[in-house]
Amino acid sequence: MKSYEIRHLYLDFFKEKGHSVVPGSGLIPFDDPTLLFTSAGMVQFKKFWATDTPLSYPRATTCQKCLRAGGKDSDIDKIGITGRHHTFFEMLGNFSFGDYFKKEAIEWAWEFVLEHLKIPAGYIWVSYYEKDDETKEIWKKFLPVERIVPLSDKDNFWGPAGETGVCGPCTELYIDTGIKKGCSSGCRPGCECGRFLEFWNLVFPQYDKQTDGTLLPLKRRGVDTGMGLERITRIMQNAPSNYETDLFLPIIKKIEDISGCSYDKDEKKKPSFRITADHIRAAVFLIDENVLPSNEGRGYVLRRIIRRAEMAGADLDIKEPFLH
Ligand code: SER
Repeated sequence: MKSYEIRHLYLDFFKEKGHSVVPGSGLIPFDDPTLLFTSAGMVQFKKFWATDTPLSYPRATTCQKCLRAGGKDSDIDKIGITGRHHTFFEMLGNFSFGDYFKKEAIEWAWEFVLEHLKIPAGYIWVSYYEKDDETKEIWKKFLPVERIVPLSDKDNFWGPAGETGVCGPCTELYIDTGIKKGCSSGCRPGCECGRFLEFWNLVFPQYDKQTDGTLLPLKRRGVDTGMGLERITRIMQNAPSNYETDLFLPIIKKIEDISGCSYDKDEKKKPSFRITADHIRAAVFLIDENVLPSNEGRGYVLRRIIRRAEMAGADLDIKEPFLH
């Protein structure tokens, strides 16, 4: 299945379930000085949960461009190493603002994964917040209890995006990529070895975190989910990492043409290919929103991204400017 087909399948599925299909927002949050960049689908909706003013829709679904390259949510140091993190990526999401809650969010996630993506149930594991028994009970309808794994707040209490605001317990869906990829026979979701690939996070926003760390109840509780398009595309295309998918291969091919190096044949050069392919996407989408390289703030993040991509290019023996 192509990445553009996955985007449409997701948005159409949630439209059928009564969600408004809303355009993703820009990478620069339009009314949120606490954030450098849009780091998740929920960013444009933060106020929907925090206030009780009337809303035009109680359910929404989006495909949101995200950047995690500066501030608390940055993944920049993992790029190239893990094969599953990005600075720029797309997040598919469905949202409820004081409308449906855990039961529907989990049932629809299960229905989408099994009946529409057609992933066999035997490959799916989930994690949940260790104090959230309600979520565990809902999953027990679908999965044997050994594949429903409790994790602490470090892994399964999400947010806020930035230092303050909307947050809550979450439950994550993983695909088991096989015992041979695991670090030990007891390896489970939550382990960093890469055997279990997390691809969908269902968050249940319930709290509004204050600057002093206090968690106040939100005006509207709800649902905020995020499925990484690059990760689900990798799963659907049976690729060894996010980079061997239709989202990245054309860029990798171009880097091969420019550098004369081979992505497949030279394992040692793979991280440099991946860094370059990841960072060029981030740079293009930032410049598209009028961010230019500078010494501070967003411009500094862009400058760092371009510099790292140029250095990765040098590792691939590229001697001339090439990112353009
Ligand atoms: N906000 C959550 C995340 O970023 C779910 O969308 O993972």
